[in-house]
Amino acid sequence: MNKLAINGGAPQRDAKVNPWQKWPVWDEREEKALLEVLNSGVWSYNGPKEMEFNKNFAEYTGVKYAISAANGTVTLQMALEACGVGVGDEVILPGLTWQATAATILDVNATPILVDVCEDTWCIDPKAIEAAITPRTKAIVPVHLYGSFANMDEIMRIAKKHNLFVIEDCAHKHGGEWNGKKAGSIGDIGSFSFQLSKHLTAGEGGVVTTNNFELAEKLDALRNCGRRPEGLSVEVDKGAGLYSDQGNFYQSGNFRITEFQAAILVEALKRMPEQNANRDANGIYLNSLLANIPGVKPMKRDERETKEAYFNFAFRYFKDEFKGLSVAKFREALTAEIGISVSGSYEPLNKCSLYVPHTKPSKHKLNDEYWAAIDPKRFDLPVCDRIHFEESVCIHHKVLMGTKADVEMIAAAIRKIYDNAEELM
Ligand SMILES: Cc1ncc(COP(=O)(O)O)c(C=O)c1O
Repeated sequence: MNKLAINGGAPQRDAKVNPWQKWPVWDEREEKALLEVLNSGVWSYNGPKEMEFNKNFAEYTGVKYAISAANGTVTLQMALEACGVGVGDEVILPGLTWQATAATILDVNATPILVDVCEDTWCIDPKAIEAAITPRTKAIVPVHLYGSFANMDEIMRIAKKHNLFVIEDCAHKHGGEWNGKKAGSIGDIGSFSFQLSKHLTAGEGGVVTTNNFELAEKLDALRNCGRRPEGLSVEVDKGAGLYSDQGNFYQSGNFRITEFQAAILVEALKRMPEQNANRDANGIYLNSLLANIPGVKPMKRDERETKEAYFNFAFRYFKDEFKGLSVAKFREALTAEIGISVSGSYEPLNKCSLYVPHTKPSKHKLNDEYWAAIDPKRFDLPVCDRIHFEESVCIHHKVLMGTKADVEMIAAAIRKIYDNAEELM
């Protein structure tokens, strides 16, 4: 018998001897760029690095405008505000996502409507969207979760039919493609995160993308205390848009990115397409290996996903085929075998410890009706529950950044746990 690492046996990969790829990635190009910013004294907004990154990211994503901001939470809030989402509006989002997707809807005084996800992609279920639409619905926020893509054809069809805004939460999807179109270029606005764990990072940061000039003008103002865009990050058409009949300013706060973050992003974006391609190839290969192991199932890759981008590599687990071994124990055993943390999905938002609107009545108790409407517990999310509590296995994207042999090790570790599951019973 091959003793499992969690029970003191030799691990499939000893990460101390054979470490995984490092994340984040940087070299002397970042060092030089950061020193350039330091020595320039231009550390704050609308600097040359920020403008360069916005231009490059817009080009890369295939949109007219990209506007950087402090993080991927405020970019969601800016997107909602730019679309005019606020009091009295409902916004439909998946129940399986990071809390920011819902918290920002609360922060603009709208009502988050949590709906269930598809079991094979973990992304929002278009049928559930349609069932949740009311006369108050103003927007849909699909999330392209981990390595999957929400079904954008269906979502855009529904949005068009009901005249709704679509804000793509692309915090996990920089560079992913649906039918040849990049994430963030399909809906009205795309919102991205550059937090450290993301596959394009500056430690913190975010960006919004759009093809719509009026939205771009508002987004630019929203990140910069409501100031009129200076013709730098969006081209200013003085005859149209936000400022034509409303004077010079717009109400907002400071959601700006720094020039240091932008300097790192300029360099990181140059590397990302190749990193994404390698992760995509390794992901395809690992999925082909998983397909031959009983009790685990690769995520569905829709044939319209022309390029995959990964925040996490995820797959589904079925304990009945592992002699009843719980998914929590399986994740622990896999962590021990491969020397990198293996986790489950986000908590469903109706049970999420970080999505608790009722802890802040001073901000969110607009009236009794609203208070009841924002109670996450009123939503039923059986598929999200099953995914989180029973099926999900997630590993950081850096495991896809090496070679085929690296991902073979993951498959071998899963097979080893399958063969020796009784050791853990
Ligand atoms: C799906 C999703 N949306 C939004 C965010 C928020 O991004 P940030 O951490 O940059 O604020 C995250 C961060 O993890 C996320 O995973």
